[in-house]
Amino acid sequence: MAATIQAIKGTRDTLPAESHKNQYIERTALDTAAAFGFREMRTPVFEYTELFDRGVGETTDVVQKEMYTFTDKGDRSITLRPEGTAGAVRAFLEHGLFNEPLPQKLCYLTSCYRYEKPQAGRLREFHQFGVECFGAASAAQDAEIISLADSFFAALGLSDYTLEINSIGCPTCRAAYSNALRAYFEDKKDRLCDTCLTRLDRNPMRILDCKVPDCQAIAADAPAMLDYLCDDCRAHFENLKGYLTALGISYEVNPRIVRGLDYYTRTVFEFVSHHPQTQGLVLCGGGRYDGLVEELGGSPMPACGFAVGLERLQMAMDAVGAPFPEAPPCNLALVTAGEAALLKAMALAADLRAEGYSVTVDTVGRSIKAQMKYANKIGAQYTAVIGDNELEAGTVKLKNMETSDETELPLDTFCEGFSDVLMRRLTDAVAGADFGSLTQPDIDRLLGGRG
Ligand code: HAM
Repeated sequence: MAATIQAIKGTRDTLPAESHKNQYIERTALDTAAAFGFREMRTPVFEYTELFDRGVGETTDVVQKEMYTFTDKGDRSITLRPEGTAGAVRAFLEHGLFNEPLPQKLCYLTSCYRYEKPQAGRLREFHQFGVECFGAASAAQDAEIISLADSFFAALGLSDYTLEINSIGCPTCRAAYSNALRAYFEDKKDRLCDTCLTRLDRNPMRILDCKVPDCQAIAADAPAMLDYLCDDCRAHFENLKGYLTALGISYEVNPRIVRGLDYYTRTVFEFVSHHPQTQGLVLCGGGRYDGLVEELGGSPMPACGFAVGLERLQMAMDAVGAPFPEAPPCNLALVTAGEAALLKAMALAADLRAEGYSVTVDTVGRSIKAQMKYANKIGAQYTAVIGDNELEAGTVKLKNMETSDETELPLDTFCEGFSDVLMRRLTDAVAGADFGSLTQPDIDRLLGGRG
């Protein structure tokens, strides 16, 4: 036998037993975004490398160490997106979305690629839910996107996390801060890593975000940007705090947040998990980036956004025991004996599926006993055996697999009969207020009056 090939380190498969969890998180993300007026966009998984060099910043860890970059057959330098913001800005400019009503509110669900050391909550391929808002400069807009992230977490039943906020000022006030940082790091130069040495001249704030432990230890006592904010940036930060308080969103000011990407101005924030199993994991990071659209060739355009790491989010949800809906069930397994019965079952299945039911038919030619066993294993709610006798009599017995109750249904009106049985089951559950036994498709069916 040939050797099997393993998945690449730092990547993950999602198997059917888990995929409904992803679907639920993604649906909740899009629903929450829609409630705030954010509409989905999709951009390519790869872009010209220059987009990230200029967008994310040449002195960041992401660009210097973590990008999946290759030369394609046309000799162009291409990079798998390490994050979603640069591509969103590129698409915003390329499609002239700045001519549409502003603010433009966009969101996305994407895969991202970073060559990082894989560990719990740190993958090389991971997924983000992100939002980007173009054309609003106010602190109210910052508060609104923070509120969106908070509503998303609340809708998922997440707990044990805090919101941390900071301001990293604008290019004007940051110049004085950069000088203060240079002065601070200058006499500690010999203890900095090589990458940070190059950052000292070009962008000393990046040293604050270095993952090397020695650099982190030195950075711990560095001056804080909050002490260098200009009047406008300070007012913006104070306004943000006021809006958050008015919205009832609790926060902590953490002067150490600098974020790992270069484009941020003023507000930066992170949602950090505090559950012992996911302690310190940053679930969501974002902020304002008023200079990026111009940096990438557009006219000046204020902007802000965030991205949630979906794998980390799921880890945090599992840790706190946040509820996930059940996977949608198989409503009916049609068990057949003989070719004529199979043909009839396939036709019935097509009709039922068109009505929105999940139906399976045996395609392996197994015995009735084996088909029943399979139906049981996949958790089918009902089974119906169709053989020569049933075809001749024109009736079939529908079996409730949970209670073993049987209902005889005419074959020629089987679809209507099955719908009635299912509807009765649902209304009984509602009458008995046993909502817990209902799955989302059940509820959809009840509300839509189907089934
Ligand atoms: P980021 O902080 O680099 O920001 O990533 C956002 C989130 O993605 C993180 O908080 C984390 O949950 C998740 N994440 C990052 N790297 C990994 C990894 N290697 N494995 C698993 N999860 C990871 C951005 O990407 C910005 N584009 C966010 C933004 C949007 N800012 C403004 N708009």
